[in-house]
Amino acid sequence: MSCCLLCGGAIRPFLEFGPMPIANGFLRREGFASESRHDLSAGFCESCAMMQLLDPVPAGLMFHDRYPFFTSSSARMSEHFRRLAGTVLKRLSRDADPFVVEIGSNDGTMLQPFAEVGIRHLGVEPSGNVADAAEARGIATLRRFFDRHLAREIAHERGRADAILACNCFCHISDLGSLADGIDTLLKPDGVLVFEDPYAGDILRQSAYDQVYDEHVYYFSLASVSRWLDRSGLEVVDAQPQPVHGGSMRYTVARRGMRRIAPSVADLAAAESRSGLHRPEAYEAFRLRVEQSRDNLVQLLGDLAREGRRVVGYGATSKSTTVLNYCGITPDMIDFISDTTPEKQGLFSPGAHIPVRPHADFVADYPEFALLFAWNHSAEIMAKEEGFRQSGGRWIRYVPAVGVS
Ligand code: TYD
Ligand code: ZN
Repeated sequence: MSCCLLCGGAIRPFLEFGPMPIANGFLRREGFASESRHDLSAGFCESCAMMQLLDPVPAGLMFHDRYPFFTSSSARMSEHFRRLAGTVLKRLSRDADPFVVEIGSNDGTMLQPFAEVGIRHLGVEPSGNVADAAEARGIATLRRFFDRHLAREIAHERGRADAILACNCFCHISDLGSLADGIDTLLKPDGVLVFEDPYAGDILRQSAYDQVYDEHVYYFSLASVSRWLDRSGLEVVDAQPQPVHGGSMRYTVARRGMRRIAPSVADLAAAESRSGLHRPEAYEAFRLRVEQSRDNLVQLLGDLAREGRRVVGYGATSKSTTVLNYCGITPDMIDFISDTTPEKQGLFSPGAHIPVRPHADFVADYPEFALLFAWNHSAEIMAKEEGFRQSGGRWIRYVPAVGVS
């Protein structure tokens, strides 16, 4: 039995993946011998309804000056963030010299529209290399982890924020208590917090077990988010599902009583109650589907390898690290993984040590099968990979179920 990171309640693991390498730890051959591993297990806390990792790895092992993920690597994600920025921009009163802070601002993609119209902004981004990319495009960025201390510094030096934004970031922060204190310190009385993260409901519904990896400490639902924020006098005033990242939720949050609560909040709460997202049984059922999914994928890739078929992975995602290592997929089953990120090309995937090669290598010699690791970008990828289809290539998917199409 472990303790809930948030409320201290007793928590039992429902997924135990065993020793895993750092999900984004793409490495050179020389690093194989010294590659570190950590136990990866997820559990559910009945007291506060939060799905979470049991033993998070220290943040500094994941977010550093060689962080290989750039928001701008997906055109569709960039567009999604620009649109979110647009809705926030419209709500800001220009007369009041508004100030916008983004936590986990990566390469500055979402703050750019604010910078373009001269709005005071600040990105907080601990990974130095992506922060450099943001500064190169004129986005003011602090290379720090956000917590209650940094919030005080920012509020003291630059004033409080009208809007705080965070996408795919809060689920990475293990000390949610310090985060909530920081928001409380930094947000103006009538300010809003808008944040987006993968949604536990979508993860369970799609059996998307590959969302479980070291960077994702929490898997939020409205139930768990509401309980977390309540302690700091904050409440969710709107909740809107988003099709990105394989199913995310956008929560708009304000100080209690400051904004009208949209009907979407009660609707989502009712839907979560109906699906049992606040009950441990839903997570046990998820575990059984995950084991079935693993067995089906291992069977399929084993059969293809025995038949001598050529399979290439598509997208060297963090998610792929969970799939490859949990399923025990080996380099004889997958030739290489195609990825457009220059920082990952020429390296090997964590743990399974499958080479990552440029997308040009995929196009130059189409394989018979492509295993879609970047399934969260499926629409964007299908639109641009007509050529692969026309060459007779077929896609292997494992979300929401293992299949070939
Ligand atoms: P991402 O969606 O962030 O997944 P994760 O959070 O699991 O790491 O990463 C997508 C990866 O896929 C990234 O390395 C870029 C790559 N990619 C391609 O190679 N081709 C594409 O068309 C797209 C959209 C992404
Ligand atoms: Zn708890």
